[in-house]
Amino acid sequence: MTLSATSNGLSASQGEAVRIDGKAIARSLTEDIRQKVDHLVQQGHGLPGLAVVLVGNDPASEVYVKNKALQTHRAGMRSFMHMMPESTSEAELLKLIADLNANPQIHGILVQLPLPKQLDPSVVTNAIDPAKDVDGLGEVNTGRLALGMTGGMVPCTPLGCLKLLQSVHTDMTGMHAVVVGASNLVGKPMAQLLLRENCTVSIAHIHTRNIQELTRQADILIVATGKAGLVRGDWIKPGATVIDVGITRVPTSGGKSRLVGDVVFKEACHVAGHITPVPGGVGPMTIACLLHNTFQAASQSFLAEE
Ligand code: GUN
Repeated sequence: MTLSATSNGLSASQGEAVRIDGKAIARSLTEDIRQKVDHLVQQGHGLPGLAVVLVGNDPASEVYVKNKALQTHRAGMRSFMHMMPESTSEAELLKLIADLNANPQIHGILVQLPLPKQLDPSVVTNAIDPAKDVDGLGEVNTGRLALGMTGGMVPCTPLGCLKLLQSVHTDMTGMHAVVVGASNLVGKPMAQLLLRENCTVSIAHIHTRNIQELTRQADILIVATGKAGLVRGDWIKPGATVIDVGITRVPTSGGKSRLVGDVVFKEACHVAGHITPVPGGVGPMTIACLLHNTFQAASQSFLAEE
């Protein structure tokens, strides 16, 4: 297959959907943030700081948080990692969050999900100061997004998906966007962002009847279910833009494994107009948007000091 790379992070081969290169778009966003951080420092401000908290030892979460720390350094910002044991109590975690809220070197706080079962994620996310809630998952930032207010923190994965869509569509007005998956982390905020772009938005979930009938009407299809290979080629409207948020490790022959999305890529790429690969699509954008939110939080804090 011959692929041709272009400067806008899109690549295509004949007769196939154009691939949206999330890796390239994320790299350019991170570089842009790094330059803005340099500019802040030249103006005499401190470095933006991001605290990432991991409770327990879920191997996938460990990989994610290490990658977040690495990318934070790459963007020229300070990274603070807090690893807590699986048995951490709510009081212990809330005490750490209170300390991070009060620490002026820290502008963004992220508590990696999922949490061990004794910890209620909504209590934990709501304990984070809304000005440092770079995940945008607390009630204040969720409410701001739902009310269409600007200046709030937008959850990183849906924000990354939006930036990928904007690399393809300069105007989404009137397009039918179908979001498959109604989670607080991705599906619901994604739907709010698409509404803000003047799309007609449908949300499909586990109880949706005739789901394929709905997805086949989508000009924009966002899939965030965590069910590997759920969406087949015949679920997709010809020419649609498909954003695959899913990332699941599946075993392959020979005792190896590979990462796959919620969309069967080898079918979808013959039907869609544009599509994100897995890996290399949404994943790198989530981290780039976390850096973007941390930079935004730090800038707002420096402005408030002036
Ligand atoms: N786990 C998987 N994705 C995310 C995310 O975007 N934020 C947090 N806090 N945890 C996650």
